[in-house]
Amino acid sequence: MTDLTTTVPPALQRALELLADPPSQPDVSKGYLDLVGADAAGAGVPKNTGPLQAMFTTRIGSMVYDYNQAALRRLFAAWLNPTESLTIPAGGTALDVGCGPGTVTAALGRAVSPDGLALGIDISESMLARAVRAHSGPQVGFLRADAQQLPLRGATVDAVVCIAVLQLVPDPSAAIAEMARVLRPGGRVAVMVPTAGFAARVWQLLPNRWARVFGEDELGDILEQHGFVSVRTRSFGTFQSVRAKRG
Ligand SMILES: C[S@@+](CC[C@H](N)C(=O)[O-])C[C@H]1O[C@@H](n2cnc3c(N)ncnc32)[C@H](O)[C@@H]1O
Repeated sequence: MTDLTTTVPPALQRALELLADPPSQPDVSKGYLDLVGADAAGAGVPKNTGPLQAMFTTRIGSMVYDYNQAALRRLFAAWLNPTESLTIPAGGTALDVGCGPGTVTAALGRAVSPDGLALGIDISESMLARAVRAHSGPQVGFLRADAQQLPLRGATVDAVVCIAVLQLVPDPSAAIAEMARVLRPGGRVAVMVPTAGFAARVWQLLPNRWARVFGEDELGDILEQHGFVSVRTRSFGTFQSVRAKRG
């Protein structure tokens, strides 16, 4: 049997305790807990095979994204890093869905310190490699899994963040359902997506393999369908940020 205390970093040991179906031999060889394995196609959920997500799975694409997001976050700190609006309890658990290079996961880690846990989940190995190198630590760990099938047990986290991800997810409603499932009642979610307002209906009729855009009320409606309350929407140019509370 694997000696988890010597082979699995502390944050991932705590993550294993939250899993619905913990692996008997956890693969943490790359610094994150890989729950997908080499054959990402085997995860049993629809896959995004478009060019934008393909770019995020390459080392160069991840690096270019990482430098750009760092520059943008310096300009729009509050908009792109909604940690404060989540009112995470001290020692709580926070989840960053589609964490990319882990900048927001790290901010969540600072918010839950010293006893809490921040977990970042992403499907891209190269994004996770960057996240692990820059941000993993006692309070911060990363998992490879799909947003449409989160590996955590129900009602295990206090807050969920999902920034600029759902446009790449084939079934955004399934991902929101998963966020609702893993959140404790009263837990908060902050989501940001690209929007085209009312023009989104036309956009959605066009053949598009890059990324989805959301209609003005679309994301708020999906959150309400999955039991979220106090849904608050703010638009800023072609982006929309939505905050809500698990009812
Ligand atoms: C534009 S980046 C945003 C990264 C990060 N949230 C941020 O704010 O910097 C989108 C991320 O979503 C991830 N992603 C796309 N589809 C996913 C899925 N089905 N499950 C988990 N992550 C996914 C991509 O790999 C990529 O890292």
